[in-house]
Amino acid sequence: MSTSPGPINLFEFEALAKERLPKEEYDYIAGGATDELSVERNRRAFESWALRPRVLGNVSALDLSTTVLGTKVSLPVLLAPCGGHKKAHPEGEFATYRAAAACGTILAVSANASAPFEELAKAATGHLWLQLYSFRDREMTKSWLSRAKEAGYEALCITLDSQWPPKRERNIRNNYKQTRGVNYPKAGPGETPAPGGADPAATWKDLEWIKSQTDLPVVAKGIMTGEDVELCAQAGADAVIVSNHGGRHLDNTLATIEVLSEAVAAAKGGMEILLDGGVRRGADVVKALALGAKAVFIGRPLFWGLAVDGQQGVTRVLEILREEIEITMAKCGRPTVASIDSTVVVKAPPLRKSPFGNSRKVRFAC
Ligand code: FNR
Repeated sequence: MSTSPGPINLFEFEALAKERLPKEEYDYIAGGATDELSVERNRRAFESWALRPRVLGNVSALDLSTTVLGTKVSLPVLLAPCGGHKKAHPEGEFATYRAAAACGTILAVSANASAPFEELAKAATGHLWLQLYSFRDREMTKSWLSRAKEAGYEALCITLDSQWPPKRERNIRNNYKQTRGVNYPKAGPGETPAPGGADPAATWKDLEWIKSQTDLPVVAKGIMTGEDVELCAQAGADAVIVSNHGGRHLDNTLATIEVLSEAVAAAKGGMEILLDGGVRRGADVVKALALGAKAVFIGRPLFWGLAVDGQQGVTRVLEILREEIEITMAKCGRPTVASIDSTVVVKAPPLRKSPFGNSRKVRFAC
């Protein structure tokens, strides 16, 4: 009797997770803003770069390790800050950080995590970053900065693209009720809770102020233009995550991989540039590195891993990516992450889905 290998790629993980999650939770995780054009574009734009295979490069000993802000990771894939891992598995972020640690990578814990961030740090053994916003209440921001340091977080990820709430139509249709994160202060009897998210009035001065209030590295997340990369550098950011929030905030943007080169050029080598959005294959990771990213993050796939098999599921998601990165590096003749340069990729004509129904078959657009 043959046993099933289980999901063998991240798309199959998503399909299985979709079967297991309540519809409204799946929609919340998978969905994006308005027409979800940016969600699809993030994914499809990876097809616009082709790999250039190289042979006879002695790839007998591959090394996928690299550093991000000085921390060694065993592969160039980190786990993006995402709220509410308990939506996908009862152990939530506790399962995720164990998977991250087992795979030798970093988990960025979201401000909207389903567990208190200090409790998570206390239990964790691996490397954790804390994501937060420039909150309306500066004292709250200040207190999170020092509590994060005290708790052992190694970097702060400041999400900058969430100053205004998005329109997510799947959630509207499903009447989805998002619960307030456990890390935000509770309101006393009869009080209105203080708003938890990003301050719509925040400016670059606030990022500069955050940087001045902490000695942890500050990573600016949600940047999509060279102009904003330059402003991040001026505000003192140590790294930038090129991100459109997985297409969950503003629709109709370019894909993150399409703006990566602009961001890298604007950083002028002064800051590490990271990327998230639509990374689902090892080849995507190698393409992002070739175009100048130091490492990438995955968001939704961590939920698919959790929904399928908790900690083991997230571990498997990361291991699948590791295997696919290995294959890509070997076949492009690049034994180390440092050897992945711009000559690994070439801009390629866009592909579109075959009109004959089989989504795996593609043909050149005329
Ligand atoms: C997110 N993301 C996110 N980002 C952030 O800065 N703070 C947060 O609390 C959340 N929460 C969140 C919840 C869920 C369910 C998802 C799917 C995403 C965005 C996340 O960090 C990342 O930018 C995207 O998920 C990357 O795109 P992919 O990999 O999901 O395509």
